[in-house]
Amino acid sequence: MTTYHGILHRYRGLLDLPDHTQTVSLLEGNTPLIPVPRLAQEMGGRFELYVKFEGLNPTGSFKDRGMTAAISEAAGRGVHTVICASTGNTAASAAAYAARAGMRAVVLIPQGKVAAGKLAGAAAYGAQIIQVQGSFDDALSMVVAISQKLPIALVNSLNPFRLEGQKTAAFEISDTLGNSPDWLCLPVGNAGNITAYWMGFRQYHHLKSAGLPRILGAQAAGAAPLVLGHPVEHPETVATAIRIGRPARGEQALEAIEQSQGRILAVSDEDILAMQRRLAGEGIWVEPASAAGLAGLEVEIRAGRLDPSGLRIVAVCTGHGLKDPEIITQRMRAPQVLPSDVKALEAALAQ
Ligand code: F0G
Repeated sequence: MTTYHGILHRYRGLLDLPDHTQTVSLLEGNTPLIPVPRLAQEMGGRFELYVKFEGLNPTGSFKDRGMTAAISEAAGRGVHTVICASTGNTAASAAAYAARAGMRAVVLIPQGKVAAGKLAGAAAYGAQIIQVQGSFDDALSMVVAISQKLPIALVNSLNPFRLEGQKTAAFEISDTLGNSPDWLCLPVGNAGNITAYWMGFRQYHHLKSAGLPRILGAQAAGAAPLVLGHPVEHPETVATAIRIGRPARGEQALEAIEQSQGRILAVSDEDILAMQRRLAGEGIWVEPASAAGLAGLEVEIRAGRLDPSGLRIVAVCTGHGLKDPEIITQRMRAPQVLPSDVKALEAALAQ
């Protein structure tokens, strides 16, 4: 039996981490690449479509890959406190890995704009949670400033070790498929993930002569600074994970798009929620932001700007649907109520 030990163990030789790194792991990574042929057919083409379901990481999002690396590096140099700004998932992940390492975690979140499952996660793992009266971008400025002043390690994706861990998702996809896909579609918020994927695919290209995917990045229409070409002062979207107006790694994201001959586009909240429903119809429940990449792909196919015929396409679904239960429960019809009586049940089933 081969035992799985997490991404740092699996890909250690390919990650640029200092010698002092002391592995802190929750056995993250190794997430499934799920074929969704029916969805591909509905989207109008004969092509291979896969979902890389990153919501199946230990804290329910892709953030765990970067976090195991950042916390392991910090642990190795005796850090006591880590801090991050977050729309929720980074906060939950930082809190969990800090707990695992015996560190204190402080997380700053935009007041009232974090989904319930993420807030509950950060609390459950014991983080100090601070709500900022402002946006994610404001919170990020605050944590950058304080980590330069106090001996506290910043674990946002400005921390280079986060990207080292995160790029392992590209390795996993290539290892599973035996090559890189033709297109990789993913949501873009602070732009760490797209930057990390591009690093990972380029590394495999050089090391293993794998191909390079074209990258399709999707931002929510109300929070699309990279599409618009300027910061967005008051970003707004149902996909609160990517409600970001000044992406820290925006320039690198645009480089990845350009170098891969890919594209960055804005998708409406309606398209995001519609794709969330369709994925759930395949048995894959993701949080709204996670549906943005696929929603973007569909928009491009529908508009005739992307012909998927014969291609192999991977969509990254970054976070689990359980992170944001309210987006479903607030919109659903209240479940039917029956007396505890089989006849009533029979009548209800006959309707
Ligand atoms: N999808 C989900 C579910 C996210 O939580 C995020 C980012 C993204 C996509 C975008 O990734 O920022 O690397 O471009 N969430 C961050 C957070 C901002 O604080 O949890 P990105």
